Amino acid sequence: MIDQVTIDRILDAARIEEVVGEFVTLRKRGVNFTGLCPFHDERTPSFSVSPSKGICKCFSCGKGGNVVHFIMEHEQLSYYEALKWLAHKYNVEIKERALSPEEQQSQNDRESMFILNEFARDYFSRILFEHAEGKSLGLGYFRERGFREDILRKFQLGFSLEAWDPFSKEALAKGYQKDYLVRTGLSLINDKQELHDRYRGRVIFPVHTLSGKVVAFGGRILKQHEKSAKYVNSPESEIYHKSNELYGIYFAKQAIAKQDRCYLVEGYTDVISMHQAGIENVVSSSGTALTHGQIRLIHRFTNNVTVLYDGDAAGIKASLKGINMLLEEGLNIRVLLLPDGEDPDSFSKKCSASAFAQYLKEHETDFIKFKTDILLKDAGSDPIARANLIQDIVESIALISDDITRQVYIRECSRQLEFSEALLFKEVGKRRRAETPGATAATRNTPQNTHTTTPIAPKQASNETVIQQSRFDPYEANIIKHILRYGNDAIFVSDTLQQGKPAVTVLAYIAQELEQDEIQLENPIYQRILQEAIEKSEQSNFEPQRYFINHRDPEISRVAANMISEPYELSKIHHRFQEVVEEKNRLDELIPHILLDLKYALVDAELQALHGELRKATGTKDETKIHELFVQIQDLLEIKKDIARYLGERIVVHH
Ligand code: CTP
Ligand code: MN
Repeated sequence: MIDQVTIDRILDAARIEEVVGEFVTLRKRGVNFTGLCPFHDERTPSFSVSPSKGICKCFSCGKGGNVVHFIMEHEQLSYYEALKWLAHKYNVEIKERALSPEEQQSQNDRESMFILNEFARDYFSRILFEHAEGKSLGLGYFRERGFREDILRKFQLGFSLEAWDPFSKEALAKGYQKDYLVRTGLSLINDKQELHDRYRGRVIFPVHTLSGKVVAFGGRILKQHEKSAKYVNSPESEIYHKSNELYGIYFAKQAIAKQDRCYLVEGYTDVISMHQAGIENVVSSSGTALTHGQIRLIHRFTNNVTVLYDGDAAGIKASLKGINMLLEEGLNIRVLLLPDGEDPDSFSKKCSASAFAQYLKEHETDFIKFKTDILLKDAGSDPIARANLIQDIVESIALISDDITRQVYIRECSRQLEFSEALLFKEVGKRRRAETPGATAATRNTPQNTHTTTPIAPKQASNETVIQQSRFDPYEANIIKHILRYGNDAIFVSDTLQQGKPAVTVLAYIAQELEQDEIQLENPIYQRILQEAIEKSEQSNFEPQRYFINHRDPEISRVAANMISEPYELSKIHHRFQEVVEEKNRLDELIPHILLDLKYALVDAELQALHGELRKATGTKDETKIHELFVQIQDLLEIKKDIARYLGERIVVHH
């Protein structure tokens, strides 16, 4: 457990634009930053970061919160792990109290697996550089292939000994649990419950997440045996989902953003060789077809992808299909064919770094043109093959979401194919109507109804309590929102003026009003925020917004962050400052109104309940009960009328 002082220290140190910026390319937009949302698939940026408030939010999918929530969501960590992540980044020392046995028990499995992977990475590296067998076989192998030592260190490459179980033994001796050794796949277990090493006599390539944690390993055999596979890889696990990782992304992300281009290659060694040649904006999907998750990873940093093909690639045609997916995601695709028989690894070593870079620049071609060329060569003059080809190209062009780009392609291809532009246009149009990937994406990303004051209750993470929405939720949320934003501001309200008090704070006024009418907020989170705000308001430096956004209970801080981000950011599009200023200036009138809105809703609900009872009482002809209810209803109707009069025209909205 981390104590509150440490949490505060972490939150003080962490700058949200910096943290988000590690994963998302942010552009400054006024006082905020925007970028592509890392939590859903999108082509135009709707993720906004506010450094001054310390929050971020996606206006399309709704995800966001303070800096801890961002890391929780992005890295799939618990609240506690996310704090540790931030503490590590900002060099904040964590003072932990000893864990109780249960806490120890419940300590997160994922974290343990990451720690074990870190240990394994260091172990394999130590073997490579220090162990006699590692040095002769492992280093020998890498040297023969021309990998420099700084590159081996950068990519944290290693070596696993040939013997049966040296790694498993050492890990167990160091206190790592058998269970995690098996779950990470580092060790295999036999019937007799004995562990042995998955990687034996192989050079080791750790696979890093976007933030540099080791999720998996690939082990390459030194000589091509006839029996064993060239690569042995980590199995899927709680921490490793192959389809969500891209080899090299951690080392490439900055260069990708900076160059605004990502090179896509086939294997581990291609990535590493290109780095060695000074080209760092490169990733590999590790020999398999790209997945949507991987594309999204690239898309966070750039719109431009160049796919590198081996010169002899028989697989080019097979891979063309996969590229449609990149188009569908709104990426601009270029293709680069290497000279015959070369892959990026071999080719980069044949020429100087600058010649290699030059080659890449000069030989990139547009994907659609490339594809058309290849298919044309194949089809020759066979009319049926040509017709199929046209359909194939039409399919790709139809996936391009940008209208202008699509038109340009249609024109280009009509020339290349010697085929009517109008007909191509028609065919593409037909396809688009049939599939409209844009339309499905739009439905998927439809913003939630952000115009009402409907809260904001956290709906996402499974381990969080889902807050039951009550009928009064919008009104209660509105009250809390104003406490968070303006709790300390003074207001001048007529009824307090009469009592000789010229001004009260918004918080004090709300507290007093609710207490007077004995109103408790139905939503437990809101009630807790209210209570705690009242308690804390005695401290002179209490700032409700800051305090609750950084609250130690992630549920509360999430609600607070959502409430703070909502209306400002929406109005930003229109006239951000005006609206905020306006609201702030209207507090005298606004705050009583907001309270009355809730009271009106409460009275109305009570009336409905009484009417229900009245119907029942009428049914049973219970005269006293009827009378009693009648009186109550009359009273409430009076109150309702009063409120209605006060609320003025707003009554129209309610009825
Ligand atoms: N791969 C794999 N298992 C295999 C073969 C390949 O997982 N049995 C993956 C690896 O991620 C590998 C990529 O596919 O990096 C590309 O395969 P390949 O071109 O054969 O390997 P390279 O990494 O290029 O290795 P090398 O240069 O040593 O041939
Ligand atoms: Mn290869």
